[in-house]
Amino acid sequence: MGFRGFCLFFVVLALSFEPWLLKSGSLTCNSNDLRALTGFYNCVDSEIAGKWNKTASPDCCSWSGVICDSSDVSGTRVVGLELANQRLTGKICESLAELHHLRVLNLSSNYLSGALPAELFQLQKLEVIDISNNHLIGSINIGMCRTSKGIRVLKFSNNHFSGEVPKDLANCTSLHHLSFDKNNLSGSLPESLFQQQNLSELNLQDNSLSGLLNNGIGNLFNLVKLDISYNMFYGDLPDVFGSLTRLEHFSANSNLFTGRLPTSLVNSPSLQMLNFNNNSLRGPMNLNCSAMKNLVSLGLGSNLFHGPIPGSLSLCQRLNHLNLARNNLSGELPNSYKNLKALTHFSLSNNKLSNIFSALCILQHCRNLSMLVLSMNFLDEEMPADVNLQFKNLKGLSLANCKLRGSIPRWLSGCSMLELLDLSWNHLGGTIPSWIGEFDSLFYLDLSNNSFKGEIPKSLTLLQSLISGNISLEEPVSSFPLYKGRQGGRRLMYKQISALQPTLDLSYNMLQGSIWPGFGNLRRLHVFTLKDNNLSGPIPDNLSRMSSLEVLDLSHNKLSGEIPHSFANLSFLSAFNISYNQMCGEIPQAVQFDTFPDTSFVGNIGLCRAECTCDSEQTLTHSFREKNMKIFGLPFGIGAAASFVLTVTCCFMSGWVLSKPNKRKNAVTRIGH
Ligand SMILES: *[C@@H]1O[C@H](CO)[C@@H](O)[C@H](O)[C@H]1NC(C)=O
Ligand SMILES: *[C@@H]1O[C@H](CO)[C@@H](O)[C@H](O)[C@H]1NC(C)=O
Ligand SMILES: *[C@@H]1O[C@H](CO)[C@@H](O)[C@H](O)[C@H]1NC(C)=O
Ligand SMILES: *[C@@H]1O[C@H](CO)[C@@H](O)[C@H](O)[C@H]1NC(C)=O
Ligand SMILES: *[C@@H]1O[C@H](CO)[C@@H](O)[C@H](O)[C@H]1NC(C)=O
Ligand SMILES: *[C@@H]1O[C@H](CO)[C@@H](O)[C@H](O)[C@H]1NC(C)=O
Ligand SMILES: *[C@@H]1O[C@H](CO)[C@@H](O)[C@H](O)[C@H]1NC(C)=O
Ligand SMILES: *[C@@H]1O[C@H](CO)[C@@H](O)[C@H](O)[C@H]1NC(C)=O
Ligand SMILES: *[C@@H]1O[C@H](CO)[C@@H](O)[C@H](O)[C@H]1NC(C)=O
Ligand SMILES: *[C@@H]1O[C@H](CO)[C@@H](O)[C@H](O)[C@H]1NC(C)=O
Ligand SMILES: *[C@@H]1O[C@H](CO)[C@@H](O)[C@H](O)[C@H]1NC(C)=O
Ligand SMILES: *[C@@H]1O[C@H](CO)[C@@H](O)[C@H](O)[C@H]1NC(C)=O
Repeated sequence: MGFRGFCLFFVVLALSFEPWLLKSGSLTCNSNDLRALTGFYNCVDSEIAGKWNKTASPDCCSWSGVICDSSDVSGTRVVGLELANQRLTGKICESLAELHHLRVLNLSSNYLSGALPAELFQLQKLEVIDISNNHLIGSINIGMCRTSKGIRVLKFSNNHFSGEVPKDLANCTSLHHLSFDKNNLSGSLPESLFQQQNLSELNLQDNSLSGLLNNGIGNLFNLVKLDISYNMFYGDLPDVFGSLTRLEHFSANSNLFTGRLPTSLVNSPSLQMLNFNNNSLRGPMNLNCSAMKNLVSLGLGSNLFHGPIPGSLSLCQRLNHLNLARNNLSGELPNSYKNLKALTHFSLSNNKLSNIFSALCILQHCRNLSMLVLSMNFLDEEMPADVNLQFKNLKGLSLANCKLRGSIPRWLSGCSMLELLDLSWNHLGGTIPSWIGEFDSLFYLDLSNNSFKGEIPKSLTLLQSLISGNISLEEPVSSFPLYKGRQGGRRLMYKQISALQPTLDLSYNMLQGSIWPGFGNLRRLHVFTLKDNNLSGPIPDNLSRMSSLEVLDLSHNKLSGEIPHSFANLSFLSAFNISYNQMCGEIPQAVQFDTFPDTSFVGNIGLCRAECTCDSEQTLTHSFREKNMKIFGLPFGIGAAASFVLTVTCCFMSGWVLSKPNKRKNAVTRIGH
């Protein structure tokens, strides 16, 4: 197991200290140590200063987070500072360098800022430094291992360190764990790093590191975890992974690697997780699953692999996450994929897969399949209607943008665990079946851009998870994006499941009838889009009960009447569009409505920002056209948006608006044709 060894190391480390580590008041603090600690807390700011009180408790060994050891010949000395999560602010002072016996320094998850004092690394006994999750800046090329040769753990993650990876690591011969991830380091990796033969975990992800990945990586034969993702490493990978016999986890996603996966890597028996998503690797996929017995997660999405979908992958029988999306793979899904019994997450979206019926017949044998993403494939095929298809554990299904014909198939109703269903951007027709409302866990439904007809099924107003908010879709272990397509040059993609908001999107169809008042039940719904249909009737007042609603788009329909005034209560609403309907009357007076642009309201019979009503014939009483003309003498008919802008500007200039308390609200304007 990936981290077991590593955790074991810490347990051993902790146990090995135990016999001597005492935190009792009976110890007396060494005066040098006391001076150093005092210096330290004079630089930081937090409650710790109150807890470390020389007057109340002169023995620093009793202070919280201070660990002493009495076994030293020089008496009781401070050997550890465990001050993670103490809301420390301020700087790390060089006075810490006076704690000559310090072995463990843990200041992680605070708000410390400034640079790391180089003096710290004059401490000869230092073994563990964890300063991750702070706001530290500056270079870390500060002579780390010249004196502190015994350092085993360096965790500098998630700060603002810049400059290069230190070149003087060569002298840290005991280095076991090195984490410089989530900083702003640049340059290439120094040779000295590749001399760290005891290194078992190396985290360099999320920096701006570049250069070729050196052959030297093959010297790190104790590596268990290597993460260099989100950097700018480029070139072909060296074929040196044969010597990394313990490597379990290798992430290099989002770099610029080219060429083929090296033979030694695709024959690694120890690898459990291999993530090369988002690089420029090419060639056929050449994994040797006879050798890669332990592979559990494979990410090769967003590369330039071509050729048929590799059938040999089905021999990687422990695979549960498989991402091959966004490559140039073609042909049918190999029948042998039936054997991937452990598969839970599978994406092949954005390839050139054909025969959806065969693909689904095969994949239904993968009984643990929970997330299936096949969007952007199968051009112009028929949606399989075979009622015997069965996906009992499926929680997420995306078949978007496949130009599929047919209708929503009955077999889907058997996927009772479904939480996410995306059938958008197809050519599906017929009515939306009412059983769609019976999925207890469905929280994301996108049927947009099809040719669905008839009424919106009333059952959608009963979707349980949108009423009670019980959403449990688990996040895949590695990034597992859901692609939809391009729109205006922009790639539509959801990076993370957790970023998906509860959504009902039925836009761009031919739905008719009215909007059910029962939608007001869906209190957990965030995005509700019915744009570009043929819906008519009034907007139900009840919709204002959808208290989580952030986006409501009802534009391009035939809705009539007034916007319910209760919409003023939709306090999370940040995008609203009612344009191109047959609406009339006053726009609700609420802060959020003041922020919506005029384009949200154009193309109606007559909507105004204030002081108007609609009569039963749906005409706006109170003719603003005349009023405007009268007051400002402006020619009308320039176009709704332009006239609005002009009107507001003129209102300001004439001082007419300024005489009223709220400028925006009283800028009486007709927004219509
Ligand atoms: C330290 O303790 C003394 C005696 O208990 C108290 O008077 C003093 O205010 C404390 N100092 C701080 C900084 O809390
Ligand atoms: C530092 O302390 C935090 C909080 O107790 C802990 O999670 C972390 O593992 C510690 N770091 C090291 C290197 O032991
Ligand atoms: C390693 O330590 C030796 C002395 O202990 C020193 O001479 C040498 O410069 C150090 N190397 C680096 C790269 O810091
Ligand atoms: C690995 O660390 C041990 C001590 O933990 C040390 O004795 C040994 O020399 C180190 N090996 C290398 C190759 O640096
Ligand atoms: C990151 O480092 C570069 C120089 O290597 C610097 O120009 C840039 O401002 C830094 N960015 C941040 C966010 O600190
Ligand atoms: C893919 O990698 C490039 C750098 O190679 C990066 O800029 C981009 O953000 C990455 N895309 C994703 C979706 O992570
Ligand atoms: C695949 O792995 C098996 C088992 O390690 C080995 O016998 C075989 O030669 C490998 N095949 C190739 C093409 O490397
Ligand atoms: C994808 O593969 C086809 C042949 O199957 C080839 O003609 C095309 O150039 C490839 N596209 C890319 C981007 O590699
Ligand atoms: C399928 O999932 C169940 C429940 O999580 C698990 O016990 C079982 O081992 C999985 N099957 C395979 C073949 O991995
Ligand atoms: C509808 O889907 C087609 C692809 O089938 C796509 O090109 C188009 O941009 C989509 N339109 C909208 C409005 O999303
Ligand atoms: C939420 O759903 C899970 C199963 O997905 C179920 O076990 C749990 O009882 C539900 N909780 C509520 C509050 O409905
Ligand atoms: C829209 O609905 C009306 C009835 O409300 C119907 O007469 C008309 O044909 C529909 N238009 C389209 C394009 O479906």
